[in-house]
Amino acid sequence: MKTYITKKIIISSDHAGYSLKKKLIAYFNKFNLDIVDLGPFDESSVDYPDYAKKLCKKISSDNYGILICGTGIGMSIMANRYKKIRASLVYSSNTAKLAREHNNANVLILGSRSINKDLAIKIVNIFFKTRFLKGRHLRRVNKFKNV
Ligand code: RB5
Repeated sequence: MKTYITKKIIISSDHAGYSLKKKLIAYFNKFNLDIVDLGPFDESSVDYPDYAKKLCKKISSDNYGILICGTGIGMSIMANRYKKIRASLVYSSNTAKLAREHNNANVLILGSRSINKDLAIKIVNIFFKTRFLKGRHLRRVNKFKNV
């Protein structure tokens, strides 16, 4: 069985992603992982850019993140404004695998109004167990820096 590529996962959402965030944290707690929840801690309405910002500032080379909003689109737009962030909006097993293999994504973005809990769990397992393939993909990923 494949192991997780990281011990530490930082997670955050907006109000639309709050419930799925709670479910994923409960799932992760079964494993020996360091889960850092940056909130929100209830379902009150918040602005997703504030939570994307909080999380992106904490991503380094030895940790990964998960951001959840209703569609995943707002979180993606905001997160990808940060130089070291390669955020990927994932909605299937295949995009979970390719976001890691080809794009070396370090932030997984989920749209809580587009996918259910079972698919979200499937996605996190694939994403956090898949390694970057490097090679030609590294050449391409390095080109993100030149913008
Ligand atoms: C909040 O209603 C919603 O706009 C947000 O969760 C997200 O889908 C934005 O992209």
